[in-house]
Amino acid sequence: MATNIAVENVRKVYQTGKDEVEAVSNVSFTAEEGEFVAILGPSGCGKSTLLMMCAGLETITSGRIIMDGQPVTEPRAHVGIMFQDSTLLPWKTVMENILFPVKVQKRPMAEHKERARELIHMVGLSGFEEKKPHQLSGGMRQRVAICRALVTDPDILLMDEPFSALDAMTRDEMNDALLDIWDRYRKTGLFVTHSIREAVYLADRVLVMTRRPATVVEDLRIPFGRPRDRSIGEKAEFNEICAYLRNLIEKREDSPRRQARAA
Ligand SMILES: Nc1ncnc2c1ncn2[C@@H]1O[C@H](COP(=O)(O)OP(=O)(O)O)[C@@H](O)[C@H]1O
Ligand SMILES: [Mg+2]
Repeated sequence: MATNIAVENVRKVYQTGKDEVEAVSNVSFTAEEGEFVAILGPSGCGKSTLLMMCAGLETITSGRIIMDGQPVTEPRAHVGIMFQDSTLLPWKTVMENILFPVKVQKRPMAEHKERARELIHMVGLSGFEEKKPHQLSGGMRQRVAICRALVTDPDILLMDEPFSALDAMTRDEMNDALLDIWDRYRKTGLFVTHSIREAVYLADRVLVMTRRPATVVEDLRIPFGRPRDRSIGEKAEFNEICAYLRNLIEKREDSPRRQARAA
C-alpha cells in the first residue's frame, strides 16, 4: 500500500492579537492508501485544527503534510471534506447541493449526475433529489453531505465529527452507511471523533491525541476485518480495546502497549 497522507512534525500556533495559542505541538503519523484512520481526543485538543491543516484550509506553523506525494499548501480538488454541520446551501435542492463541487470545479456535469444518482441510491436518499435541506432530518442532511464529498471521486476523505450532532440511533445508522461506502468506494480517510466506540467500529487504526497542545500518544491497529457489522460491538475484544482507549484518554498517560513495543 502506498502512503497517502504523511503528517510530519506538524505544529500549529494561533496568533490572536498579542496572545499565542499552541493548538498542535508536534504531530506525526501516516495513513496508507485505502486506510481509515480515526483520531480520538478530548475537546479542544486540536483535532479540528489538524484536519483543517490537512484540508489546506489552515496554515501550518512548522512541519509539513504530504498528500499523494505533494506538500499541502492550499485546498485540493481530490480531497472531500465533511463537518459536524452539513453546510448545505439552503436554497439549493439535494441534487444541486451534491453537484455543487462539480460546478465549482467545472467538471463535466452529465457523468457526475450519474454518479450523484448512484451515491444518492447508496445512502438511501432516492426520491429526495428535489427536496431542499429544511425538508430533511439531520441524518438525511449528513447523507447529502457524504454524497457531496464523494461526487468528484476524491482519493481522500476528511471528516470532522460528522455525526456528533445526531441522536444515537441516527448515528448508528450513519456509521453503518459509512462502512458500506468504505467497502464500495475505499478512500483514504481521516475521521475525527470523541466517541471511542465509533472510532473502533469504523477505523483500521485509531490515533489518540492528548490535551492541548496536542501530540499523538497512541497509534493502535484495530484487529477487525471488513466488511464489518454491529455484531463486532458485542465481542469481548472490541470492548477491551474501548476500555483500553478510555483509560488512556482519561489518564493521559503514555501507552503501556507503545512502551512495550518500544522496549
Ligand atoms: N482560529 C483560532 N484562533 C485562535 N485559537 C484557536 C482557533 N481555532 C482553534 N483555536 C484554539 O486551538 C485549540 C484547539 O482547537 P480545535 O482544533 O478546535 O480543537 P478540537 O477540534 O480538538 O476540539 C483550542 O484551544 C482553541 O481554542
Ligand atoms: Mg473540533
